[in-house]
Amino acid sequence: MDREKITLTGAQETMLATLYGKALDSRSPNSILHDHEADKAVRRIDYDFRKTGVKGTTAAGVALRAKQLDDWTAEFLAHHPQATVLHLACGLDTRVHRLDPPSSVRWLDVDYPEVLELRERLLPRPAGDYRMIGASVTDDGWLDEVPDDRPTVAVFEGLTMYLHQEDGKRLVQRITGRFRGGQLLFDCYGTLGIRLQKMVPAVRNAGATLHWGIDDPYEIEGWHDGLECLDALRSVDMPGLDKLPASGRLVMWVLARLPGFRDVGRILRYRF
Ligand SMILES: C[S@@+](CC[C@H](N)C(=O)[O-])C[C@H]1O[C@@H](n2cnc3c(N)ncnc32)[C@H](O)[C@@H]1O
Repeated sequence: MDREKITLTGAQETMLATLYGKALDSRSPNSILHDHEADKAVRRIDYDFRKTGVKGTTAAGVALRAKQLDDWTAEFLAHHPQATVLHLACGLDTRVHRLDPPSSVRWLDVDYPEVLELRERLLPRPAGDYRMIGASVTDDGWLDEVPDDRPTVAVFEGLTMYLHQEDGKRLVQRITGRFRGGQLLFDCYGTLGIRLQKMVPAVRNAGATLHWGIDDPYEIEGWHDGLECLDALRSVDMPGLDKLPASGRLVMWVLARLPGFRDVGRILRYRF
Protein backbone atom coordinates (compact mmCIF):
# COMPACT_ATOMS: atom_id res chain seq x y z
CA MET A 1 0.00 0.00 0.00
CA ASP A 2 1.33 3.49 -0.89
CA ARG A 3 2.19 5.58 2.11
CA GLU A 4 0.60 9.03 2.52
CA LYS A 5 2.95 11.89 1.72
CA ILE A 6 2.64 14.89 4.02
CA THR A 7 2.44 18.37 2.58
CA LEU A 8 1.00 20.09 5.65
CA THR A 9 3.07 22.67 7.51
CA GLY A 10 2.82 24.83 10.63
CA ALA A 11 0.13 24.09 13.24
CA GLN A 12 -1.35 21.40 11.00
CA GLU A 13 1.95 19.52 10.78
CA THR A 14 2.25 19.43 14.58
CA MET A 15 -0.57 16.87 14.73
CA LEU A 16 2.02 14.34 13.51
CA ALA A 17 3.99 14.87 16.73
CA THR A 18 1.02 14.08 18.99
CA LEU A 19 0.04 11.16 16.75
CA TYR A 20 3.59 9.81 16.91
CA GLY A 21 3.68 10.22 20.71
CA LYS A 22 0.54 8.09 21.01
CA ALA A 23 1.94 5.53 18.55
CA LEU A 24 5.22 5.23 20.48
CA ASP A 25 3.32 4.92 23.75
CA SER A 26 1.23 2.10 22.28
CA ARG A 27 4.41 0.17 21.47
CA SER A 28 5.60 0.32 25.09
CA PRO A 29 4.94 -2.60 27.46
CA ASN A 30 3.74 0.04 29.98
CA SER A 31 1.45 1.79 27.50
CA ILE A 32 -0.81 4.45 28.99
CA LEU A 33 -3.25 4.90 26.13
CA HIS A 34 -3.02 1.68 24.09
CA ASP A 35 -3.72 3.72 20.95
CA HIS A 36 -2.97 1.02 18.37
CA GLU A 37 -4.96 2.87 15.72
CA ALA A 38 -2.45 5.75 16.05
CA ASP A 39 0.39 3.31 15.47
CA LYS A 40 -1.29 1.87 12.37
CA ALA A 41 -1.72 5.40 10.99
CA VAL A 42 1.93 6.30 11.67
CA ARG A 43 3.08 3.23 9.74
CA ARG A 44 1.06 4.44 6.74
CA ILE A 45 2.55 7.94 6.68
CA ASP A 46 5.61 8.86 4.65
CA TYR A 47 7.24 11.35 7.02
CA ASP A 48 10.47 11.64 9.00
CA PHE A 49 9.00 11.40 12.49
CA ARG A 50 12.41 12.19 14.00
CA LYS A 51 11.56 15.78 13.08
CA THR A 52 9.00 15.82 15.89
CA GLY A 53 11.66 15.25 18.55
CA VAL A 54 9.16 12.98 20.32
CA LYS A 55 10.76 10.14 22.31
CA GLY A 56 10.12 8.16 25.52
CA THR A 57 9.26 10.88 28.03
CA THR A 58 7.49 13.21 25.59
CA ALA A 59 5.52 10.29 24.15
CA ALA A 60 4.36 9.27 27.62
CA GLY A 61 3.53 12.92 28.40
CA VAL A 62 1.38 13.20 25.27
CA ALA A 63 -0.38 9.94 26.20
CA LEU A 64 -1.03 11.09 29.78
CA ARG A 65 -2.55 14.37 28.62
CA ALA A 66 -4.78 12.52 26.15
CA LYS A 67 -5.77 10.00 28.85
CA GLN A 68 -6.85 12.77 31.21
CA LEU A 69 -9.01 14.37 28.52
CA ASP A 70 -10.39 10.92 27.56
CA ASP A 71 -11.31 10.22 31.18
CA TRP A 72 -13.10 13.55 31.59
CA THR A 73 -14.95 13.08 28.29
CA ALA A 74 -15.99 9.55 29.30
CA GLU A 75 -17.18 10.86 32.68
CA PHE A 76 -19.34 13.47 30.93
CA LEU A 77 -20.79 10.85 28.57
CA ALA A 78 -21.56 8.51 31.47
CA HIS A 79 -23.76 11.28 32.93
CA HIS A 80 -25.12 12.43 29.56
CA PRO A 81 -25.39 9.44 27.19
CA GLN A 82 -27.21 11.63 24.64
CA ALA A 83 -24.61 14.36 24.61
CA THR A 84 -22.98 16.18 21.72
CA VAL A 85 -19.18 15.95 21.63
CA LEU A 86 -17.32 18.73 19.84
CA HIS A 87 -13.82 17.40 19.34
CA LEU A 88 -12.04 20.51 18.06
CA ALA A 89 -8.64 20.48 16.35
CA CYS A 90 -8.95 16.71 16.21
CA GLY A 91 -5.97 16.30 13.87
CA LEU A 92 -5.39 12.55 13.55
CA ASP A 93 -6.33 11.87 17.14
CA THR A 94 -8.37 8.70 17.61
CA ARG A 95 -10.36 9.81 20.68
CA VAL A 96 -13.62 8.65 19.09
CA HIS A 97 -12.14 5.19 18.52
CA ARG A 98 -10.62 5.03 22.01
CA LEU A 99 -13.85 6.00 23.74
CA ASP A 100 -16.15 4.14 21.33
CA PRO A 101 -19.23 6.10 22.44
CA PRO A 102 -22.74 4.61 22.25
CA SER A 103 -24.80 5.43 19.17
CA SER A 104 -26.90 7.84 21.31
CA VAL A 105 -23.90 10.24 21.37
CA ARG A 106 -23.52 12.79 18.58
CA TRP A 107 -19.79 13.16 17.84
CA LEU A 108 -18.22 15.87 15.67
CA ASP A 109 -14.55 15.99 14.75
CA VAL A 110 -13.53 19.48 13.62
CA ASP A 111 -10.28 20.60 11.98
CA TYR A 112 -9.11 22.22 8.73
CA PRO A 113 -10.48 20.51 5.56
CA GLU A 114 -7.00 19.35 4.41
CA VAL A 115 -6.43 17.69 7.79
CA LEU A 116 -9.77 15.91 7.60
CA GLU A 117 -8.98 14.64 4.08
CA LEU A 118 -5.92 12.93 5.48
CA ARG A 119 -7.90 11.70 8.46
CA GLU A 120 -10.42 10.11 6.11
CA ARG A 121 -7.66 8.26 4.28
CA LEU A 122 -5.81 7.07 7.39
CA LEU A 123 -8.37 6.25 10.06
CA PRO A 124 -11.38 3.92 9.96
CA ARG A 125 -14.73 5.69 9.88
CA PRO A 126 -16.36 5.36 13.30
CA ALA A 127 -19.81 3.81 13.61
CA GLY A 128 -22.73 5.75 15.07
CA ASP A 129 -23.75 9.39 14.90
CA TYR A 130 -20.43 10.73 13.62
CA ARG A 131 -19.56 13.71 11.41
CA MET A 132 -16.53 15.70 10.45
CA ILE A 133 -16.64 19.45 9.90
CA GLY A 134 -13.81 21.01 7.88
CA ALA A 135 -13.30 24.57 9.12
CA SER A 136 -11.10 26.77 11.20
CA VAL A 137 -12.62 26.82 14.67
CA THR A 138 -12.25 30.60 14.59
CA ASP A 139 -14.58 30.88 11.56
CA ASP A 140 -18.13 31.93 12.15
CA GLY A 141 -20.64 29.54 10.70
CA TRP A 142 -19.49 25.99 11.42
CA LEU A 143 -21.10 26.02 14.86
CA ASP A 144 -24.49 26.84 13.30
CA GLU A 145 -24.35 23.37 11.70
CA VAL A 146 -24.40 21.78 15.17
CA PRO A 147 -27.86 21.34 16.73
CA ASP A 148 -28.05 23.03 20.14
CA ASP A 149 -30.48 20.50 21.63
CA ARG A 150 -28.20 18.49 23.94
CA PRO A 151 -25.68 18.83 26.77
CA THR A 152 -22.38 19.47 25.00
CA VAL A 153 -18.80 18.71 25.84
CA ALA A 154 -16.12 20.49 23.81
CA VAL A 155 -12.74 18.84 24.04
CA PHE A 156 -9.73 20.48 22.42
CA GLU A 157 -6.25 19.15 22.89
CA GLY A 158 -3.21 20.98 21.56
CA LEU A 159 -5.30 23.87 20.18
CA THR A 160 -5.38 26.92 22.47
CA MET A 161 -1.68 27.74 22.12
CA TYR A 162 -2.08 28.12 18.33
CA LEU A 163 -4.90 30.64 18.72
CA HIS A 164 -4.65 34.31 19.58
CA GLN A 165 -6.27 35.02 22.92
CA GLU A 166 -9.11 37.07 21.40
CA ASP A 167 -9.98 34.15 19.07
CA GLY A 168 -9.84 31.70 21.98
CA LYS A 169 -12.10 33.93 24.02
CA ARG A 170 -14.58 34.23 21.17
CA LEU A 171 -14.57 30.45 20.69
CA VAL A 172 -15.30 29.88 24.39
CA GLN A 173 -18.08 32.46 24.28
CA ARG A 174 -19.64 31.05 21.10
CA ILE A 175 -19.77 27.54 22.58
CA THR A 176 -20.99 28.54 26.03
CA GLY A 177 -23.49 30.96 24.49
CA ARG A 178 -24.95 28.41 22.06
CA PHE A 179 -25.50 25.32 24.20
CA ARG A 180 -27.65 25.17 27.33
CA GLY A 181 -25.02 23.42 29.41
CA GLY A 182 -21.94 21.30 29.25
CA GLN A 183 -18.21 21.28 29.77
CA LEU A 184 -15.03 22.57 28.14
CA LEU A 185 -11.98 20.31 28.39
CA PHE A 186 -8.66 21.55 27.08
CA ASP A 187 -4.97 21.98 27.71
CA CYS A 188 -2.97 25.18 27.62
CA TYR A 189 0.54 26.57 27.88
CA GLY A 190 1.42 29.22 30.43
CA THR A 191 2.99 32.44 29.10
CA LEU A 192 6.44 31.10 30.00
CA GLY A 193 5.75 28.08 27.79
CA ILE A 194 4.84 30.46 24.95
CA ARG A 195 8.10 32.39 25.47
CA LEU A 196 10.08 29.13 25.38
CA GLN A 197 8.28 27.73 22.32
CA LYS A 198 11.42 27.44 20.20
CA MET A 199 12.63 24.78 22.63
CA VAL A 200 9.83 22.47 21.50
CA PRO A 201 11.16 20.61 18.42
CA ALA A 202 7.69 19.73 17.11
CA VAL A 203 6.74 23.41 17.04
CA ARG A 204 10.10 24.73 15.82
CA ASN A 205 10.60 22.16 13.06
CA ALA A 206 7.04 22.53 11.74
CA GLY A 207 7.53 26.31 11.58
CA ALA A 208 4.47 26.78 13.81
CA THR A 209 3.96 29.79 16.07
CA LEU A 210 2.32 29.69 19.47
CA HIS A 211 0.44 32.75 20.68
CA TRP A 212 -1.87 32.29 23.66
CA GLY A 213 -0.64 31.43 27.13
CA ILE A 214 -2.96 31.11 30.14
CA ASP A 215 -1.46 31.78 33.57
CA ASP A 216 -4.70 32.16 35.51
CA PRO A 217 -7.34 29.56 34.54
CA TYR A 218 -9.91 31.30 36.77
CA GLU A 219 -9.80 34.45 34.64
CA ILE A 220 -11.73 32.55 31.94
CA GLU A 221 -14.68 32.14 34.33
CA GLY A 222 -15.44 35.82 33.71
CA TRP A 223 -16.02 35.22 29.99
CA HIS A 224 -19.52 33.76 30.40
CA ASP A 225 -22.13 33.86 33.17
CA GLY A 226 -21.96 30.64 35.16
CA LEU A 227 -18.72 29.38 33.62
CA GLU A 228 -16.84 27.58 36.39
CA CYS A 229 -13.38 26.04 36.50
CA LEU A 230 -13.71 22.54 37.98
CA ASP A 231 -10.10 21.39 37.56
CA ALA A 232 -6.81 23.03 36.69
CA LEU A 233 -4.19 20.30 36.70
CA ARG A 234 -0.57 21.33 36.22
CA SER A 235 1.17 19.20 33.59
CA VAL A 236 3.98 18.70 36.11
CA ASP A 237 1.61 16.97 38.49
CA MET A 238 -0.80 15.19 36.16
CA PRO A 239 -2.13 11.84 37.40
CA GLY A 240 0.02 8.97 36.11
CA LEU A 241 3.42 10.72 36.05
CA ASP A 242 4.83 7.63 37.79
CA LYS A 243 4.50 5.96 34.35
CA LEU A 244 7.17 8.26 32.86
CA PRO A 245 10.71 6.96 32.39
CA ALA A 246 12.96 7.76 35.41
CA SER A 247 14.63 10.72 33.64
CA GLY A 248 11.20 12.20 32.86
CA ARG A 249 10.03 11.78 36.44
CA LEU A 250 13.11 13.64 37.64
CA VAL A 251 12.55 16.54 35.21
CA MET A 252 8.91 16.81 36.32
CA TRP A 253 9.95 16.73 39.98
CA VAL A 254 12.39 19.59 39.43
CA LEU A 255 9.97 21.66 37.29
CA ALA A 256 7.21 21.24 39.88
CA ARG A 257 9.47 23.02 42.38
CA LEU A 258 10.49 25.94 40.18
CA PRO A 259 8.17 28.97 40.32
CA GLY A 260 7.12 29.88 36.78
CA PHE A 261 8.12 26.52 35.31
CA ARG A 262 5.53 24.67 37.36
CA ASP A 263 2.83 26.60 35.45
CA VAL A 264 4.30 25.85 32.04
CA GLY A 265 1.26 23.80 31.03
CA ARG A 266 -2.14 22.81 32.40
CA ILE A 267 -5.15 20.63 31.64
CA LEU A 268 -8.42 22.38 32.37
CA ARG A 269 -12.02 21.39 32.96
CA TYR A 270 -14.86 23.94 33.06
CA ARG A 271 -18.60 23.59 33.33
CA PHE A 272 -21.15 26.05 31.99
C1 LIG B 1 -0.80 19.74 18.13
S1 LIG B 1 -1.99 19.30 16.94
C2 LIG B 1 -3.17 18.45 17.98
C3 LIG B 1 -4.02 17.50 17.22
C4 LIG B 1 -4.88 16.58 18.09
N1 LIG B 1 -5.76 17.33 18.93
C5 LIG B 1 -4.02 15.68 18.92
O1 LIG B 1 -3.97 15.82 20.14
O2 LIG B 1 -3.36 14.81 18.32
C6 LIG B 1 -2.77 20.86 16.57
C7 LIG B 1 -4.03 20.72 15.75
O3 LIG B 1 -4.75 21.96 15.83
C8 LIG B 1 -5.34 22.20 14.58
N2 LIG B 1 -5.67 23.61 14.52
C9 LIG B 1 -4.88 24.66 14.81
N3 LIG B 1 -5.55 25.81 14.64
C10 LIG B 1 -6.80 25.47 14.25
C11 LIG B 1 -7.96 26.20 13.91
N4 LIG B 1 -7.97 27.54 13.93
N5 LIG B 1 -9.07 25.54 13.52
C12 LIG B 1 -9.07 24.17 13.48
N6 LIG B 1 -8.00 23.42 13.80
C13 LIG B 1 -6.89 24.06 14.18
C14 LIG B 1 -4.28 21.76 13.60
O4 LIG B 1 -4.78 21.57 12.29
C15 LIG B 1 -3.80 20.46 14.26
O5 LIG B 1 -4.58 19.36 13.86
